[in-house]
Amino acid sequence: MAAGNITLTMIKPDAVRKNNIGPILGKINEAGFRIRAMKYTQLTKAQAEAFYAVHAERPFYADLVAFMTSGPIVAAILEKDNAVQEFRKLIGSTNPKDAAPGTIRQLFAEDVQNNAVHGSDSDENANIEADFHFAKTERF
Ligand code: CMP
Repeated sequence: MAAGNITLTMIKPDAVRKNNIGPILGKINEAGFRIRAMKYTQLTKAQAEAFYAVHAERPFYADLVAFMTSGPIVAAILEKDNAVQEFRKLIGSTNPKDAAPGTIRQLFAEDVQNNAVHGSDSDENANIEADFHFAKTERF
């Protein structure tokens, strides 16, 4: 099956608090992604629990939900050929200690939880996550 052309990102509360929305969007632009949809919002507890339901059994789930609701985020749908893989390359490993030089997490993340950005891990999840954040009328 052909690789999809959208991915869903969130600039997480740690990066927003550190005034890194602009620099992170700059990296996304330089890497050739087109912004299809974008919003500045704060997740409710119910929304964060639903978004991360796949991690519900993990020991870090409660902390993750608390962190993701601790302040505003920027959610966006990004478009590029092979968007999911290309964006994962741009952001680097989940843990910034393992993230390659020049990646968004190496540059802006604090630790494995406060890791600056989210990126979808599959085309299927990119579509589910895009639908989670955006109505059809909010996409361009
Ligand atoms: P992300 O990959 O965007 O989605 C799942 C999130 O859970 C991940 O980013 C981190 O913010 C968080 N996470 C993943 N692994 C751990 C861990 N070992 N400890 C704490 N948080 C984690």
